[in-house]
Amino acid sequence: MSINFKDYIASVDNFPEPGIVFRDISPLMADGQAYAAATDAIADFARERKVDMIAGPEARGFIVGCPVAYKLGVGFAAARKKGKLPRETVSASYQLEYDTATLYLHKDAIQPGQRVLVCDDLLATGGTIAATIDLVERLGGIVVGTAFIVELTDLHGRDKIKDYDLLALTQYE
Ligand code: PRP
Ligand code: ADE
Repeated sequence: MSINFKDYIASVDNFPEPGIVFRDISPLMADGQAYAAATDAIADFARERKVDMIAGPEARGFIVGCPVAYKLGVGFAAARKKGKLPRETVSASYQLEYDTATLYLHKDAIQPGQRVLVCDDLLATGGTIAATIDLVERLGGIVVGTAFIVELTDLHGRDKIKDYDLLALTQYE
């Protein structure tokens, strides 16, 4: 059975601010078959690129990336928000569609030369994924692709990461 992933994305007007249409992956996560199909599609993309590690930003990047890492039998590097990581970190600041933030990675989260797929639920302006890529590369990782459940095409996030292969399971304007 082929799954139309858009059937499992809820669109919520004016959340978290007026004018934003929030694309919510919770219905996909709530459906075992749809969540597994999304995980499998990203795992296939990662396998073709011979990844050693998956990386993803807090919080929804963990929901997407961790099951892919488990499926492939590789590790997961968690890029976290301020004040969460107890040991030495590298950090990168970025602009969100409706906020600004900084992400951190433990310095030993990635080993030099590891091939890394960077995952998130959604690509909007690209700030989050660009910051995560920056952290991975500063630790010597080789980013071999990026993967998302949702791409918001009108925000042109892919222009920020055009040097990298990109998989988006759904696209919205
Ligand atoms: C959301 C989403 C992506 C990011 C996309 O995360 O999960 O990580 O925004 O936006 P961008 O492409 O413009 O950077 P958010 O910062 O809301 O955090 P959350 O995952 O903890 O909800
Ligand atoms: N992150 C940034 N923009 C978003 C949106 N429109 N929907 C869900 N998550 C987001």
